[in-house]
Amino acid sequence: APPVNPALSSQLKELSESEGGLLDRRMFFDPEIYKVELERVFARSWSFLCHESQLAKAGDFFSTYIGADAVVVTRQRDGSISAVLNSCRHRGMKVCRADWGNAKAFTCTYHGWSYSTDGSLVSVPSEEYAYYNEIDKSKLGLLRVPQVQSYKGLVFGCFDPEAPSLVDFLGDMTYYLDILLDRVDGGTEVISGVHKWKMRGNWKLAAEQFSGDNYHTISSHISVLLSEFPPEAADAFMNIDGLQINPAEGHGVGVMYSPTGAPFSAGSSEAILRWRDETRQESINRLGKERVEGMSWTHANVFPNFSYLHDSSVLRVWMPKSPTEMEAWSWCIVDKKAPQEVKNAWRTQAIRHFSPGGTWEQDDGENWSYCSGAGGQEGVVTRLSKLHVEMGVGHERSHPTLPGKVGHTYSEQNQRSLYRRWAEFMAAESWKDISVPVRTAEVIDRSDMAKAGES
Ligand code: FES
Ligand code: FE
Repeated sequence: APPVNPALSSQLKELSESEGGLLDRRMFFDPEIYKVELERVFARSWSFLCHESQLAKAGDFFSTYIGADAVVVTRQRDGSISAVLNSCRHRGMKVCRADWGNAKAFTCTYHGWSYSTDGSLVSVPSEEYAYYNEIDKSKLGLLRVPQVQSYKGLVFGCFDPEAPSLVDFLGDMTYYLDILLDRVDGGTEVISGVHKWKMRGNWKLAAEQFSGDNYHTISSHISVLLSEFPPEAADAFMNIDGLQINPAEGHGVGVMYSPTGAPFSAGSSEAILRWRDETRQESINRLGKERVEGMSWTHANVFPNFSYLHDSSVLRVWMPKSPTEMEAWSWCIVDKKAPQEVKNAWRTQAIRHFSPGGTWEQDDGENWSYCSGAGGQEGVVTRLSKLHVEMGVGHERSHPTLPGKVGHTYSEQNQRSLYRRWAEFMAAESWKDISVPVRTAEVIDRSDMAKAGES
């Protein structure tokens, strides 16, 4: 891999050593850093690919990306899930041009090479005349993503065969993911259709915000707060209580305690609130009171670029498209066994709040655009001035019951953790130089949900 910008790596070292610090803003627009990042961060991390419910039947596929690499994820006949590079071995045409669907084979539209859904090359047109029957098809299958595993319905892939298992990579993040994935018997599913839109802005700005930035809510989203909540609730937001939790280096979760005692879905429909009440005891039996009643609304990011909002029912991937552009992919996730009326309510709520036309979404996108180039950040003087990420330094603590380091809801401990993890990946020659999170919470295995399994 090309060397990491030396000035940047010393800056990042300082950041990780001082537990606080200043951030080099070139990481939000520099093309050299972006190139290294694709290799060292995205080609080594576990990346969210899709939800298992999108691959219900054999042959079901979903096209997506790991970093800048196009991949297609497919349910095989034996029930396993595999992923291959979506690039023909002949001239590199995309072999699957659909976003999702069901296929018996992927046939390249350029010259007609045809691959089975597990990526093996099965036929080549005019094999006798064009290749004198001398072509070795067994060596020309689509390149496979070597590791594909799922956690309670979420399918992830990793290009690095040396990477630890998905649950090891997640560490204690699973404890918080369970609030979203494991509330009720039967788990979750996603509502068909993925919203995708392009934004100006580096992907890390979105990831860090979902990881730990509750602070922006009171400024960026003030108009939504005032228009959607009763005035006393909007006022209470200004001094809101809650936690930022850093379950393992790189991953971050934020919890808000409702100022009015009402769930944060206060703006949401009766149907959702009723469903929460009906399933409360079941959820408490599965997850304990603290996670069900104390954490009714969480925002989170799984390193590097997979985010979610629990109770707004949104899953996100911030696809890197260039140093200053990303594509947001957004899924609506719901409890599988919820009545249709509740699923519809979640879908409408997700669209209304967090979608290309969503009331909250618009505010964030505009900020990221300005922070990443549109505001003149690349200017010769501006680019050298550092950014401040010191909120809450020295106030992180452990918690009597929750795994991870904990800070006030207005703290940048999760952002610092994300950037330290990023710097660790950027500097490492291989996974031998990257730490594996230490797990303290056990993983609750659910036989009613898909188990993690190798492709
Ligand atoms: Fe796919 Fe030629 S590029 S068959
Ligand atoms: Fe926001």
